[in-house]
Amino acid sequence: MLSLRERGVRVPRVLFVDPLAGLIVMEKVEGAVLRDVLEKLDREEACRSMILLGEEVGKMHKHGVAHGDVTTSNAILEPSGSIRILDLGLSKHVEDLEDAAVDVHLLIRVLESSHYSIKEEMLECFMEGYRKILGDYWLRNVMEKVSEIRMRGRYVEERKLSRIA
Ligand SMILES: Nc1ncnc2c1ncn2[C@@H]1O[C@H](COP(=O)(O)OP(=O)(O)O)[C@@H](O)[C@H]1O
Ligand SMILES: [Mg+2]
Repeated sequence: MLSLRERGVRVPRVLFVDPLAGLIVMEKVEGAVLRDVLEKLDREEACRSMILLGEEVGKMHKHGVAHGDVTTSNAILEPSGSIRILDLGLSKHVEDLEDAAVDVHLLIRVLESSHYSIKEEMLECFMEGYRKILGDYWLRNVMEKVSEIRMRGRYVEERKLSRIA
């Protein structure tokens, strides 16, 4: 969290750490969990929030860190309209394209399960922010990998279903 913050990623401020006690004290970010408000915002504001989320995830990937749990529950929309990204417990170093694609894949699943009616539009907005940081070439490569991961998932689901039937 400290090194991401130094690199300009909008994570909470770390206030105190006691490694022996396994304690991290961090700033409480004011605002609303994005998951709870995304549908209540007007489309423009919802899109702007998703662009900002895409930028934060893009910045993390640019610095070689995958978040590990990119969901709208792990983002806070601050009263100023900024986005803060939380819950870095599953984050890891990006070793290959797949690590980055898994973050985007999870976000798509969250859009499908929790924000179904606006999922396509919100994904476009997220990708716009992500592209702003990492460029079109990287985005296209990541999205190709995401398609591959989704196909793999579908294959496993179909095999599971055929076993049940
Ligand atoms: N620094 C923070 N500031 C404000 N709210 C937070 C902060 N950290 C966590 N929360 C709130 O607590 C919830 C759970 O925390 P989180 O770190 O996401 O843990 P987990 O999802 O693993 O239970 C978040 O969705 C958010 O609502
Ligand atoms: Mg969480």
